[in-house]
Amino acid sequence: MPARSAVVLGTGSYAPERILTNGELSRVVETSDEWIRTRSGIRERRIAAPEEQASDMGVRAAQRALESAGITAAEIDLLIVATITPDMPMPAAACIIQHKLGIPTTTACFDLNAACSGFIYALDTACAMLTSGRYRRALIIGVEKLSSVVDWRDRTTCVLFGDGAGAAVVGASDEPNRGLLATKLGAFGESVDLLYIPRNGTEPVPAAPLSGVVQHGSYIKMKGKEVFKIAVRAMEEAARDILEQQQVHADQISLVVPHQANLRIIEAISQYLELPMDRFFVNVDRYGNTSAASIPIALDEACRAGRIRRGDLILLVAFGAGLTYGSALIRW
Ligand code: ACO
Repeated sequence: MPARSAVVLGTGSYAPERILTNGELSRVVETSDEWIRTRSGIRERRIAAPEEQASDMGVRAAQRALESAGITAAEIDLLIVATITPDMPMPAAACIIQHKLGIPTTTACFDLNAACSGFIYALDTACAMLTSGRYRRALIIGVEKLSSVVDWRDRTTCVLFGDGAGAAVVGASDEPNRGLLATKLGAFGESVDLLYIPRNGTEPVPAAPLSGVVQHGSYIKMKGKEVFKIAVRAMEEAARDILEQQQVHADQISLVVPHQANLRIIEAISQYLELPMDRFFVNVDRYGNTSAASIPIALDEACRAGRIRRGDLILLVAFGAGLTYGSALIRW
């Protein structure tokens, strides 16, 4: 029997202990706290321990999401992990996390790569599978260890990224007009060269200038200015399209949880939607850009801070490498 909706039952997040401040970074590359703060809004980011894998962080966030949902690992029948930094190219981080959490072997487990839009892509995929009636309880995780793919010699990128994990438990429901109401996903594949990580081994592995970071020689390459322009346009359009499609006025949105790449991008969307910044959840100052982990970490922090209540209309909006974009409207 198909379900009528898919609702978020609980959220969780995890951030590694080590905090890397702008001040500390300015001793690694030629930059300053002032430049980073005024251009991006970032003050600090978290860095995973050398032995701490994406799957370890994903497990911690998932445990908190399961606990907040009041659901055990044994009840999960679908596990999707959005990441561009899995522990290894194969197998999927989802299978490693499945084993670490003791999720049943009858559970469908796979990774999904839509970069920073990954969590919205995973949410849409999970909801479609849940409302099909073939699955009942999904665990969705967004996790990144970006410190392992950041070039710590390149000041134009290394100041922007961080590590972390966020998760949500989503369940099939028979309640109408609740849960995920709509999504809008897409990609500008013609712009892949603006933001990418080349295959391993295309350049020599230098000694990492940041201590305690293990790297493999494939680093994020980004044309920041061009990405910025496309990001603002794509996020504005993804937000506008979903509101128009659902005949919702921006003013009805209780909270926007945007991808946390740059405070200036979030401010541009606030102006475009004519929604004040206090309706936007912002934590980019503390984590930087954690790609697929960014929205689920923000969503979890917003829930725990009491900024999301049952019945609220929540808008998620993201963009990332691909260049992918996505928006999702949720009745909490
Ligand atoms: N410290 C000091 N100076 C710097 C730094 C730094 N860390 N980085 C660059 N500069 C210099 C540049 O060299 C340039 O100097 P020049 O004028 O002498 O050439 C100057 O600062 C201005 O650089 P711009 O690139 O023009 O700075 P801009 O205002 O565009 O901000 C930024 C750069 C923050 C990267 C911005 O373009 C941005 O946020 N882009 C979007 C990034 C993003 O969100 N990417 C998504 C990734 S998501 C994923 O899927 C992984």
